[in-house]
Order: sequence, then structure tokens, then C-alpha cells
Amino acid sequence: MKLRGARGDEVGALAEVHALAFDHPWSAAEIAELMGSPGAFALVAEDAGPVAFILCRAIAGEAEILTLAVSPAARRRGVARGLVEAAAGAARIAGAEAMFLEVADDNLAAIGLYETAGFTRAGLRRGYYDRGPQGLADALVMRLDLGRAAL
Ligand SMILES: CC(C)(COP(=O)(O)OP(=O)(O)OC[C@H]1O[C@@H](n2cnc3c(N)ncnc32)[C@H](O)[C@@H]1OP(=O)(O)O)[C@@H](O)C(=O)NCCC(=O)NCCS
Repeated sequence: MKLRGARGDEVGALAEVHALAFDHPWSAAEIAELMGSPGAFALVAEDAGPVAFILCRAIAGEAEILTLAVSPAARRRGVARGLVEAAAGAARIAGAEAMFLEVADDNLAAIGLYETAGFTRAGLRRGYYDRGPQGLADALVMRLDLGRAAL
């Protein structure tokens, strides 16, 4: 599996990966807009084509994971862990001292991933996700200290 920076002309393929990973996926246009925003960077894992990506922002000494998606067929092979580690390294190079993310508090796969990558629980945002008829879901805020991370 190869990790590399995402290209602006492949947002369609990234949207397809996102749609395989989320119930409320982001469109190619939304991904393109975020990728073009200040401090944004995206990394792709590719096999024959993109199978996973991470989209982050590093600005004013802080980094944030905006989204992380792995195609179901590519899961449990360390792809997400590799993307998180590479993104943390890139954020550190960009001058960030800490990396944050929000994750649904019932997303045990992602919470397990982030905890094994060294993130700790930093807070709770109640009703952060709107799941339509299923109501609101809380988000955990997680934080990785990039100064001390062993990644
Ligand atoms: C969460 C997600 C990104 C994990 O991707 P992945 O490539 O399968 O993860 P990895 O193989 O790198 O797993 C690394 C560690 O995370 C944890 N983990 C990953 N998937 C897990 C699962 N389904 N159940 C429990 N723990 C899991 C494990 O600790 C795993 O280490 P191990 O395989 O040695 O036990 C992927 O399942 C996904 O895209 N889910 C839908 C979208 C999503 O939830 N994104 C994150 C939102 S913040």
C-alpha cells in the first residue's frame, strides 16, 4: 500500500471512498473546498487506486483531522494507522504542537484506532452529530500531543 499526498484532480475518487465509509458522505465539491482551505492537506493510501484518505488542517500551531475514511475491503490492515501516523508527522513539520479530532462516541473502531495511535480523550460535545430520525449523537474530542508523540 502506497501513501502519498492527494491531488486536486482526484476528489471524485476520494468522494467514492468517503461514500463507502460514511452514512452521510461528503461530495467531491465539499472535499475540494476543504482541501483548498488554509492549512489543509490530504494523504491518500492507494492500491490499484485510492482505497483510503485522511484530510487534515494545520494552522496556528494546532492540527485537526477533518475526516478519515478507509474502504471496507481495505480495513484491518493498518491503513488508517499509517495515514494517522503520516498526518501527525506532516502536522508536526507544519508547526503544529497538538492534533485534535471529533469522533462519534459510539464509533468504537475509530476510538480504538486513535487510542492506539496515542490520542487521549480531551472532552465531549453533546449532540454534535445530527443523525436525522435517530436523533443527536455525542462526539468525543481527542487530542494527540505532537511534541511528545512516539509516532
Ligand atoms: C475507523 C477506520 C478508519 C479504521 O480503518 P482501518 O484501516 O481498518 O484501521 P487499522 O487497520 O489501521 O486499525 C488500527 C487499529 O484501530 C483499531 N480498530 C480498527 N478497526 C477496528 C474495529 N472494527 N474494531 C475495533 N478496533 C478497531 C484496532 O486497535 C486496530 O489495531 P489492530 O488491527 O492491530 O487490532 C475504518 O473502519 C473506517 O473508515 N470507518 C468508517 C469511517 C470512520 O469511522 N472514520 C473515522 C471517523 S473520525
